[in-house]
Amino acid sequence: MSFVSGRRFPSLIKSKRKQQRGGENEKEQLCRKRDKKQVKQQENSLFSLGSFSSSFLLSPVTNLKGKGKRETSLHTHKSCPSLIYQKRTKHIYMASKKRAIERAFRAIISRSSSNSSSSTTSSLRSSSASPSSLFTITRRNVSSTSSSTSSTTATASESSSSPLVKNFDVYRWSPEAPKDSKDSKPHYQSYSVDLNDCGPMMLDVLLKIKDEQDHSLSFRRSCREGICGSCAMNINGVNTLACLSKVEKSTAAETTKVAPLPHMFVVRDLVVDMSNFYAQYKSIKPWLIRDDEEETKASGRENLQSKEDREKLDGLYECILCACCSTSCPSYWWNSDKYLGPAVLLQAYRWIIDSRDGKKKDRLIQVNDAFKLYRCHTIMNCTKVCPKGLNPAKAIAKIKTMVK
Ligand code: SF4
Ligand code: SF4
Ligand code: FES
Repeated sequence: MSFVSGRRFPSLIKSKRKQQRGGENEKEQLCRKRDKKQVKQQENSLFSLGSFSSSFLLSPVTNLKGKGKRETSLHTHKSCPSLIYQKRTKHIYMASKKRAIERAFRAIISRSSSNSSSSTTSSLRSSSASPSSLFTITRRNVSSTSSSTSSTTATASESSSSPLVKNFDVYRWSPEAPKDSKDSKPHYQSYSVDLNDCGPMMLDVLLKIKDEQDHSLSFRRSCREGICGSCAMNINGVNTLACLSKVEKSTAAETTKVAPLPHMFVVRDLVVDMSNFYAQYKSIKPWLIRDDEEETKASGRENLQSKEDREKLDGLYECILCACCSTSCPSYWWNSDKYLGPAVLLQAYRWIIDSRDGKKKDRLIQVNDAFKLYRCHTIMNCTKVCPKGLNPAKAIAKIKTMVK
């Protein structure tokens, strides 16, 4: 048997294929005859149903007849009468299912209408809407509910982030402004800022005004964290650093007044002339002066200090020279050309008590002056306003005792 297999003898394979083809043709013919019979039977049975339109039922059958050879000869789902019958049955089943769904929806709507008297539901109840339309309306209702919920949420979130507008009166003056213009004379200009859309500090407000409302507004700032001392100004009557001054949201109705440091020459807007202040600071020689300076330099030694001596500088070295204290001192207001003021005197004391310094006596002699030192009347404004929490009045009092 193995020697006469299809693989070894191609002639055998050919004859086998011929036989198969012949068998197929016979099968096809038989199938075609059976199909014709079944189609006729199907036609008769479907006409007898009567509840559906004849065109609806006839169309696939006529197609089957009209499409001729190709469709009828092949045993596809289109031409197979048993498949068509299955399709028809399925259609009838789906139609009855639709009617059942419609009935169920009507029942739901009538139940919901007893609870709510919404116009939409009543209109649905009265209407003879199809199940599909009912589906659509119900879906629309759900979506409208969800949209109303989302709109409520949106309103809530909007109210939480609703604008909290506060007015700020900012001092304005520009030496460059034309003589007839408003800016040629010092005045307060009003700005409204939404605090919910702004940083928490006064410096943030000023930056927002400058960025969004008035680019010509001038003020000093650098570190924005109370280190450089450049943003010192008068906010609501108190000298402070704008970057450390929090804007109160609770007092949004009140207007905040922002002005330059008092009793200082104004350069422009909130910028003041600090030349006198720095000149006074320079006059106290705010650096280490040693008797053995050359020796120390040659040897490369460090200027060592004991822990106790170092601790004496606490509460003094933290001064950032913002001038808030000096510009709040009435004595400094009237005698700023002669009186050194609390900031400079605090710095003078810092170098006087430094254990590494060799010019303590000279320093004390230098500040021992009726105007330079004794203009202080211990009013304590300086200590009250210092944004770094230092006590210049105490330092002045200590110098006074050392001079005596
Ligand atoms: S204590 Fe002296 S320095 Fe301080 S505010 Fe009063 S007068 Fe000025
Ligand atoms: S003592 Fe305080 S207020 Fe005065 S300059 Fe120094 S940091 Fe500013
Ligand atoms: S910006 Fe530096 S202290 Fe305010």
